[in-house]
Amino acid sequence: MAYVAKPLAVVTGASTGIGRELARIAAERGNDLVIAANEDRIEEAAQFLREYGATVVAVNADLATLEGVDKLCDAIHATGRPVELLMANAGVGLGHAFLDQEVDAWRRVVDTNITGTVYLIQKIGQGMRMRNAGRILITGSIAGFMPGSFQAVYNGSKAFLNSFSFALRNELKDSGITVTCLMPGATETEFFARAGMLDTKVGQAEKDDPVDVAATGFAAMMNGEGDVVSGWKNKLQSAAANVMPAGMLAEQHRKMAEPGSGKH
Ligand SMILES: NC(=O)c1ccc[n+]([C@@H]2O[C@H](COP(=O)([O-])OP(=O)(O)OC[C@H]3O[C@@H](n4cnc5c(N)ncnc54)[C@H](OP(=O)(O)O)[C@@H]3O)[C@@H](O)[C@H]2O)c1
Repeated sequence: MAYVAKPLAVVTGASTGIGRELARIAAERGNDLVIAANEDRIEEAAQFLREYGATVVAVNADLATLEGVDKLCDAIHATGRPVELLMANAGVGLGHAFLDQEVDAWRRVVDTNITGTVYLIQKIGQGMRMRNAGRILITGSIAGFMPGSFQAVYNGSKAFLNSFSFALRNELKDSGITVTCLMPGATETEFFARAGMLDTKVGQAEKDDPVDVAATGFAAMMNGEGDVVSGWKNKLQSAAANVMPAGMLAEQHRKMAEPGSGKH
């Protein structure tokens, strides 16, 4: 019997956390995958995903750079297959007071979360437009609803993505392409360790399971929803953020994210 290629899903930031779970769900659903992260562990993730019967191409690329995104796009192109699902999930946090942060560190947040993500979506989105088909899931955050004292650049980057996602969705509303924004709250991944926030209240608090968060986001993408906040506590928090003054939200964020605010 002739081999029939499965539809292709692309997941960035798939070496760990929410992205790895999104990729697992896609593999279980019957997608083949191109996955990317900027570390060797992307190969381990690929091995894990192959156990679900998917053909997986793993790309080790720095998606904070245009060259890294081009490398990923070349790998996608080399499959000769159209992208059915794009999950633009790679992202990085950064704790501590803004004036104490290294320029390279906060630029990395902007370059990964905003520039690399938007560049990837544009390149893949243009291919989707030619076929008038495709689904895009962007991992934003409820952090995008509140000024992030002691995580200021990160929250700003997520506010950008939340907004960008709805704008692109509207531009594509008469097309066969859907755009969905997944807005998780604090989730149990490597995020807080990588962001240098393990001594904060939010870093030490009980968090959502990335399995649930990814399932919520994936389902919303398949339903073509505009956005989804994962978890009822986060839904309440984001609803409150819509009516509370920004200064009050920033003060609330300080309590959660100030270095040393966690238990010693
Ligand atoms: N965990 C939370 O509380 C939370 C809440 C709301 C939203 N989010 C968002 O969820 C997404 C996934 O984060 P996570 O919680 O699953 O954290 P995570 O476990 O740290 O995963 C982040 C993923 O992104 C990859 N990545 C980061 N920078 C990259 C770069 N420059 N190039 C390529 N890959 C890069 C990471 O691999 P490498 O860095 O090794 O390459 C990893 O695969 C992020 O966009 C994050 O902002 C997380």
